Amino acid sequence: MRADMRTQVGIVGAGPAGLLLSHLLAQRGIDSVLVEIRSREYCEARQRAGVLEAGSVALLRQAGLASRLNQEGIEHGGIYLQFAGERRHVDFRELAGRTVTVYPQTEVVKDVIARRLADGGAVEFGVTGTEVAGLDTDRPVLGFTDAHGQRHELACDAIAGCDGFHGICRPAFPAGYLTVREREYPYAWLGILADVPPSTDELIYSRHPRGFALHSLRGPVTSRLYLQVSHDEKIDEWTDERIWDELDRRFELPGWTLQHGPVLDKNITPMRSFVATPMSYGRLFLAGDAAHIVPPTGAKGLNLALADVAVLAPALDRLLRGDGSLVDAYSKTCLDRVWRSTHFSWWMTTMLHRTSAADDMEAELQLAQLRYITSSRAAATSLAENYTGYPDLAARTHLT
Ligand code: FAD
Ligand code: PHB
Repeated sequence: MRADMRTQVGIVGAGPAGLLLSHLLAQRGIDSVLVEIRSREYCEARQRAGVLEAGSVALLRQAGLASRLNQEGIEHGGIYLQFAGERRHVDFRELAGRTVTVYPQTEVVKDVIARRLADGGAVEFGVTGTEVAGLDTDRPVLGFTDAHGQRHELACDAIAGCDGFHGICRPAFPAGYLTVREREYPYAWLGILADVPPSTDELIYSRHPRGFALHSLRGPVTSRLYLQVSHDEKIDEWTDERIWDELDRRFELPGWTLQHGPVLDKNITPMRSFVATPMSYGRLFLAGDAAHIVPPTGAKGLNLALADVAVLAPALDRLLRGDGSLVDAYSKTCLDRVWRSTHFSWWMTTMLHRTSAADDMEAELQLAQLRYITSSRAAATSLAENYTGYPDLAARTHLT
């Protein structure tokens, strides 16, 4: 590729990882160009995560991105675990001294896009033909065709692959370079967004013989609910009535009613654990879902994406000043947290989902674990610590 433009850091993908990275770099006086295949409207509307760890909230505050989060984020001091006809509260505030905040990923994305554009940041939506080259040189090139059909080849000091699980950056690593650890689950989540106030003050994770269900929310008047379905389920086979009927059964509790409302959006998400190591090759650095995926049961994916770029921004800053020590440590620094979250998400997932109606052994093991968590302070504290996150995140942003 011929380089006809120049920036310090080329960023691929305007999800939470790419957007926050471009902002953190700008705060350090580092120039970047961010390219995204989708439109701004699409990125801002894509329904994904809903829960921020305490450290992610602190990070967004430190980065000056939290004015709406501070107003509209809903702090939750725990979750409910429902199983065997009971609903039990796990109190994060008391057990771990920390909380989580319900603030949708759509809003994080809107906040950072608005700030990047207000600050004059270069964000190119609707690009095609994204390519990366020269990764083992100190002038890697990011190629793309902009929304007006103009081809660009951007000479960079480094490239950040923040292009999600299906992006082009991870496949650009040389064959055989990456080690991949992966687990697919034999089920998926059918998620709905509903125009109805939540029927609960905190999230309900329900293990039920018919399959897992989760009651989450998007704000005071919008609910987000999920049902475990089989991995090859067809969304067309789920009418709104069938979805509400199944949710009623899986959350059933005497004296409690699930409020129904119009379904605004529905989709099916496959479940996968995936970690590719190392997270960098030459001058290409992966962050977020481009490098690792967790099943959503532990609410970790968005938080991991933010954590990666909180490590990457100062590391790139040092690199651009001639010191590669932090980028050399980047992958290892991130992977401790990645594997902890990968384990926690796998553990929550396998404790709460039904694999087969015939597996009575598994059902008893799940119930024994749920009874233990809701009766032992030590076990509950472990869940609370993991769910609310790993507190060193905010401190790491200020590595210089
Ligand atoms: P993405 O958000 O996937 O962004 C990647 C971007 O790159 C996209 O905008 C994509 O269009 C763009 N792109 C791709 N290819 C190219 C290319 N060739 N050129 C340019 N751009 C490209 N996480 C939590 O922490 N808590 C939760 O409660 C939670 N719930 C979830 C519920 C569901 C149903 C799902 C699906 C996920 C959930 N997650 C949750 C996970 C979380 O949404 C992801 O981990 C998060 O979006 C990762 O951010 P990212 O920036 O790494 O990647
Ligand atoms: C969500 O609100 O989308 C959500 C919340 C908690 C999870 C997963 C998803 O564990």
